[in-house]
Amino acid sequence: MCGIIGYSGPLEARNILLDGLAGLEYRGYDSAGIALCMEDSSICLAKKVGKVKTLRDYCDSSIRGTAHSGIGHTRWATHGGVTDANAHPHRAGKVTLIHNGIIENYHALTEQFKLQDKLISQTDSEVAAWALDALYDGDPLKAIRALKNQLEGSYSFCILFDDQPGSVYAIRSVSPLVAAYTHAGAMVASDLTALIPYTNQYFVVPENRIVKLTSYKIHVYDLDDAFTKEYPEILTVNWNMDAAMKNGFPHFMMKEIHEQPEAMKNTILPRMNKGLPDFCDDHIPDDLFTGCSQIHIVACGTAMHAGMVARAVMEPILRIPVTVSIASEFRYEEPLINDKTLVIIISQSGETIDTLAALRLAHDYGSRTLAVVNVKGSTIARESDYVLYTHAGPEIAVASTKAYSVQLAALYMVGCRMALVRGVFTEKQATDFLTDLLDAIPAMETMIAQEDTIKQVITHIIQSPDAFFIGRGLDYAFSLEGALKLKEISYIHSEAYAAGELKHGTIALISDQVPVIAIATQQHVFAKTISNIREVKARGAFIILLTKESAVVDDTLADIQIHIPDVDDRFTVFPIVVVLQLIAYYASLGKNLDVDQPRNLAKSVTVE
Ligand code: G6P
Repeated sequence: MCGIIGYSGPLEARNILLDGLAGLEYRGYDSAGIALCMEDSSICLAKKVGKVKTLRDYCDSSIRGTAHSGIGHTRWATHGGVTDANAHPHRAGKVTLIHNGIIENYHALTEQFKLQDKLISQTDSEVAAWALDALYDGDPLKAIRALKNQLEGSYSFCILFDDQPGSVYAIRSVSPLVAAYTHAGAMVASDLTALIPYTNQYFVVPENRIVKLTSYKIHVYDLDDAFTKEYPEILTVNWNMDAAMKNGFPHFMMKEIHEQPEAMKNTILPRMNKGLPDFCDDHIPDDLFTGCSQIHIVACGTAMHAGMVARAVMEPILRIPVTVSIASEFRYEEPLINDKTLVIIISQSGETIDTLAALRLAHDYGSRTLAVVNVKGSTIARESDYVLYTHAGPEIAVASTKAYSVQLAALYMVGCRMALVRGVFTEKQATDFLTDLLDAIPAMETMIAQEDTIKQVITHIIQSPDAFFIGRGLDYAFSLEGALKLKEISYIHSEAYAAGELKHGTIALISDQVPVIAIATQQHVFAKTISNIREVKARGAFIILLTKESAVVDDTLADIQIHIPDVDDRFTVFPIVVVLQLIAYYASLGKNLDVDQPRNLAKSVTVE
């Protein structure tokens, strides 16, 4: 949801900013822009609708001269359409500004600062730029502090002042921002992907601090004007540039599908002790698991789907209520949670604004919180009571793949530890459960190796405007993720239905050759699902059946069958999701679409 970067240092700022924006592009790619402080201290602005590549070409042909500081932005449009004028940076008097987030009171600020005749874009961000210019009397810190007092909403800003050449100022509230002083100079960015070519040491810009980048230092100021007494904690990234490159794969999504078995091992193995789940190194105490009478899982998108699978696995084992909520709904509800509720927050990025708001609401209700997060030091990780990091490495493709698998791996381990410490599992049962979890990893590898076979089913899917995913129980939870993956990157309208619910309306949409991806891996409802498949088959559907190797099904039932290895029913999600991801991947490729950066979407959703 917009990527921002600021730089001051000895190198050519244009290249640093454009390379950084390429690393941040997954956050939004409607338009991109940079502002450079040139050697003669003038500000040079370049911004273009389209991707960073378009901006780079434009800069190559239009910018002459050298700059050693500047700011850059890649946009996911919220206020105002996708136009050059709405692209960032915004110029306002002596101020040049880029913004990630939403200024909620921009109407009021427009009135207050009498900006009606000044604005040339439709963005809330330009309003903030003009308000800052109005507040600026030569003292950047004073003006930024005054602006902060006026703003409602979420933001991270990078700012240049015409009369402060070589300095880049930045501040954040909610929206993410990390900073590093590197051999190449001082940098600040929305995400580490922009910094990682230069350093593995960084800090999270704290809220209520202003940072100033100069070519020799990063200054951190408290809002009360003094230099900060306590410098932010320096963190070390545990992945390198390779992890953020395609490494020979045609797309990040394909690379990330292939990385899943390794990511699973990285998430599970360090937390196994004598065959049992052990969260000592994560500093998660067992009383978190014994002291609760219910679990409430809250997340968005794919992370929420991981929560639905976890619910279906945990509740029958633990025999306590496990509820799953969509974060954007939960945050405006009056949830039935209290100090006996364990709220589990799931987020790859750790920055999704609705999920963060849900976490804060859970704290307001006195609940204890455990976050399952991929990005170290992210806001959700810092604000939750406990955090269980998944070790997927950076996920760059907008369609989430490996993050989902490792979220599940972590949640399965939580379920297992809870069952053990609550006396529901014996040690033997807990060990067997983890053995089954580990056995799912080679099953994933088996399905990745079948990518060419899975590719064959695509011709039947991409010819249709619609596709349906059906299943019962856990298979229904997998279906939801399959349908989401397919729609987000192939733009095929796809819906997931609980197989038994079809006959209550949706079956009216089934006609000749409509693809139905039927998932039947759960023994206790297998016969029922097969009956539901027959119902759609009888109405002409083209059936792609995903089931276990050992399943006995009549050859006439499905047009295509894809078999996964015979893992225990509770673990079939791991091989099945690989198939669902590959179906979506090849459908997108088959339609010649942008697999990694599908239209209208963004990876990190830092606006409501
Ligand atoms: C966006 C992404 C999804 C992701 C969801 C939640 O919609 O495109 O891939 O599942 O946000 O993101 P989070 O970072 O909180 O897991």
